[in-house]
Amino acid sequence: MKLTILLLLLFVGINQATWLNIPKLAVRVSKSFVAMEKLETPEELRVSAEEEEMEIEVNQEVNEEHKVSNEKLNLKKPYTSMLKKDFDNRKYEIVYIEDPENVAIEIADSRNQRKIDLEPVKYAKLETGYFQSSESAESSEENDTSSSEEEEELEESLPYPSKCGCVKKSGRVFESKTSPREWESANFQANDLPAAWDWRNVSGKNYCSPTRNQHIPVYCGSCWVFGTTGALNDRFNIARQGRWPMTQLSPQEIIDCNGRGNCQGGEVGDVLEHAKLQGLVEEGCNVYRATNGECNPYHRCGSCWPNECFSLTNYTRYYVKDYGTVKGRENIMAEIKKGGPLACGIGATKKFEYEYVKGVYSEKSDLQSNHIISLTGWGVDENGVEYWIARNSWGEAWGELGWFRVVTSKFQNGTGDQYNMGIERECYFADVDVSNLN
Ligand SMILES: *[C@@H]1O[C@H](CO)[C@@H](O)[C@H](O)[C@H]1NC(C)=O
Ligand SMILES: *[C@@H]1O[C@H](CO)[C@@H](O)[C@H](O)[C@H]1NC(C)=O
Ligand SMILES: *[C@@H]1O[C@H](CO)[C@@H](O)[C@H](O)[C@H]1NC(C)=O
Ligand SMILES: *[C@@H]1O[C@H](CO)[C@@H](O)[C@H](O)[C@H]1NC(C)=O
Repeated sequence: MKLTILLLLLFVGINQATWLNIPKLAVRVSKSFVAMEKLETPEELRVSAEEEEMEIEVNQEVNEEHKVSNEKLNLKKPYTSMLKKDFDNRKYEIVYIEDPENVAIEIADSRNQRKIDLEPVKYAKLETGYFQSSESAESSEENDTSSSEEEEELEESLPYPSKCGCVKKSGRVFESKTSPREWESANFQANDLPAAWDWRNVSGKNYCSPTRNQHIPVYCGSCWVFGTTGALNDRFNIARQGRWPMTQLSPQEIIDCNGRGNCQGGEVGDVLEHAKLQGLVEEGCNVYRATNGECNPYHRCGSCWPNECFSLTNYTRYYVKDYGTVKGRENIMAEIKKGGPLACGIGATKKFEYEYVKGVYSEKSDLQSNHIISLTGWGVDENGVEYWIARNSWGEAWGELGWFRVVTSKFQNGTGDQYNMGIERECYFADVDVSNLN
């Protein structure tokens, strides 16, 4: 089994009364993923004592003014030097990490789990092993603009624990086409497209599947799965005219069984090829665990009785027929209108990840795609700005109940492609096969 193991869980209880505005911070450092505080590590991820003994010294004497308890957490080598703290700086948690590529760190607000303060994460600098909370940065006595500029530059150049990093790029073009698309025809009339289209409300009817969260119960770089299954779920609903039951495909079965992508990333084409060749299964066959699993009959589709687990044999598979890439505003609109949502790559910026709350997003950026979302429609806002409607996979707490809107390439006199994270550049359509469904 691949080692995606929780290496350590460190909870720093901070005296709230003294640090009025500072939430209690839970600092979690893990290999390959970040676990949720207070949740037990799943059995299959638990490491045996012989395999990994760790030592972490947590000296909780923060400084003279801010003494906390004297509790100590001790774990042994080889990770002794992974975590150190600088007790000279109050409000600072400083974490040195030896192997930044394999370690993710996340800071969670333990006072209110629903409202995680992501601000400090922005300042985490894994390469130098330096984490500075934003409040500390602001209250800094030094008011030296050159150093803060340097810091900004440094931040830009360093890796940080992004929510993305879930996209692999093999360079392969995934395509299976038996006929050209509507927009490839010479007769294609983009003018026939409506000014707005939203699969959440077509004549009062919703065809879109629920928003999910790829990052629980532990961190998993599976946007490539969720962005694609989100679009496919909707497409099955549309093709079946919204008849019960709504489709909820299993992302975990794809992670376990597609043979290429996993919680360390993948490609939209990996999902579509798997859907074409093997068929996908519904969520009830293999519920989401956010971890790389073995592909076996039980993980294809299984269930359990009180004393045993077993694989099922008679279950529905969901297939796709033609699939391929589509790019450009009008072609994308035509595909969405005709068959349903698309899976598209975006270059999700830090600002987008951490600061987007609602509204039509625009940010000038040339970041390469690092995230996959489901593009489901478009519209025009009260100022006449045309936007795309898309579903993300970071739970409903993010954005507009888990969704977002972003400008189309029409924005800024036709230069909107530079302002919309490249959302029109790398999209995939797939025709779903409903011949075996009721
Ligand atoms: C610090 O810098 C800010 C702007 O960057 C300025 O408004 C403020 O007056 C400065 N404070 C001091 C003490 O120099
Ligand atoms: C759905 O769209 C119709 C117009 O087609 C609109 O009248 C209605 O308010 C919309 N419903 C919701 C819930 O947004
Ligand atoms: C498998 O399931 C389908 C639909 O639920 C049913 O029609 C069929 O008889 C089942 N086959 C077997 C062998 O149980
Ligand atoms: C928009 O682009 C057109 C054609 O390139 C140009 O004629 C026009 O002046 C531009 N408008 C603005 C506001 O930049």
